[in-house]
Amino acid sequence: MYKSAKFWDRIADKYAASPIRNQAAYEATLDRMRDLLSPTDTVLELGCGTGTTALALAPSVQHITATDVSDAMLDKGRDKAQAAGTTNVEFLQSDAADAPAGPFDAVLAFNLLHLIPEMDNALAEIAKRTKPGGLFISKTFCMPEQRNMIWWFIQLGLPVMQAIGKAPYFAELSTSDLDAAITKAGFTIVETTMAPGKDPRRTIIARRAY
Ligand SMILES: C[S@@+](CC[C@H](N)C(=O)[O-])C[C@H]1O[C@@H](n2cnc3c(N)ncnc32)[C@H](O)[C@@H]1O
Repeated sequence: MYKSAKFWDRIADKYAASPIRNQAAYEATLDRMRDLLSPTDTVLELGCGTGTTALALAPSVQHITATDVSDAMLDKGRDKAQAAGTTNVEFLQSDAADAPAGPFDAVLAFNLLHLIPEMDNALAEIAKRTKPGGLFISKTFCMPEQRNMIWWFIQLGLPVMQAIGKAPYFAELSTSDLDAAITKAGFTIVETTMAPGKDPRRTIIARRAY
């Protein structure tokens, strides 16, 4: 049992029932990924949650290994795959740093990197699992540059929620720190996009060096 799984197991029902924040931006990200992926690709998804992204991309690739520390999240993904008749997504329990070795044509991490205390180590392991020339695609929370409501919530509200077990570990990543960490792990960043409006999530498309 992974230590960080406890929190996510506990909130799996609530997470599964909550709507996708910013559906239009999510669809745009999926479309961009469909452009980049090909039908022969094998894909590793880290922190797949209830499998929404893996199941949406499954028709566009050969196989997806969808991993997460939380078995409760994975069980929901398995149920959704069965209901959809999707047979090319395998759900496996693992930490981002000890996922199956692959290597894979693409590794995906949505809403994950800011939740990992040892991010540099995880990125080094991700690089080992990405084929030379393969893709690493991350969408993750970055600290807003302005001191807006979200910034203040992270400073004041989040520590309280963490203290009472209502929020997980949360790294206050700047966009430049995140880019530097991904580059240090052996990737070349080829595209970055910020979500529209006040949504502080950054999508990074990076390619592993040959
Ligand atoms: C915010 S949810 C995102 C789920 C999904 N990727 C999405 O975008 O809806 C974060 C997920 O990462 C998982 N997780 C947290 N820490 C992890 C780690 N170190 N390795 C793998 N998965 C992790 C949690 O169990 C949870 O399912």
